Amino acid sequence: MSTTMPLQPVIEARHLRLRPFIAGDAPEVQRLAGDRRVAEMTLAIPHPYPDGAAAAWITTHPFGWLAGREITYAIERRRDGVLLGAIALLNVSAAHAHAEVGYWIGHEHWGQGHATEATRALLDFAENELGLTRFAGRCLARNPASARVLQKAGLRPEGCLVCHLQIGGVYEDVLLFGRVAPSRLAP
Ligand SMILES: CC(C)(COP(=O)(O)OP(=O)(O)OC[C@H]1O[C@@H](n2cnc3c(N)ncnc32)[C@H](O)[C@@H]1OP(=O)(O)O)[C@@H](O)C(=O)NCCC(=O)NCCS
Repeated sequence: MSTTMPLQPVIEARHLRLRPFIAGDAPEVQRLAGDRRVAEMTLAIPHPYPDGAAAAWITTHPFGWLAGREITYAIERRRDGVLLGAIALLNVSAAHAHAEVGYWIGHEHWGQGHATEATRALLDFAENELGLTRFAGRCLARNPASARVLQKAGLRPEGCLVCHLQIGGVYEDVLLFGRVAPSRLAP
């Protein structure tokens, strides 16, 4: 990745637009991410979701982009501009040309292919425009929907971290997935 980053570009997919979050998204982020069914599958989303947390989270995004460390996008439905969720590349490393993908979709929008389309679009953008050639994804073993999304976006199973996390006093397994660009595998 370049050290002088241009403005974070919008990514257009078939049904979705990935765009930077704006301050005005905060109430809807709080409503969608504040749903227990969304929060319980991620470590990143607190529950209950504190007032002000969404606005504070959104203010961090430009710094992550400019530092080349994290790239966070709002997932918006193209036809009506409805905010569906969020997707991000985390732990971006220019040195290793790799990153980790994470996402959530508001519960009322589950099961319509949004996470898969957004993941494919973001990874293709990162591969083609940012030069990243390896993507990791991980999910709790009790989250088959996320495991399915990762595999539909071209990530292959790479293993399981047994009893890796302690959540609510229970040790849980974490599934690992990875997608490697063919150019990276070439001799
Ligand atoms: C995981 C999540 C992002 C999926 O979003 P989505 O937009 O509904 O995902 P998609 O519609 O693109 O794909 C979901 C796939 O999982 C499948 N699926 C859903 N529930 C499932 C279950 N209980 N068991 C097996 N497969 C399941 C769907 O059938 C679909 O696969 P298909 O297209 O082959 O039928 C969404 O459920 C979510 O936000 N969950 C809470 C937060 C979260 O888990 N984030 C990821 C943390 S790693």
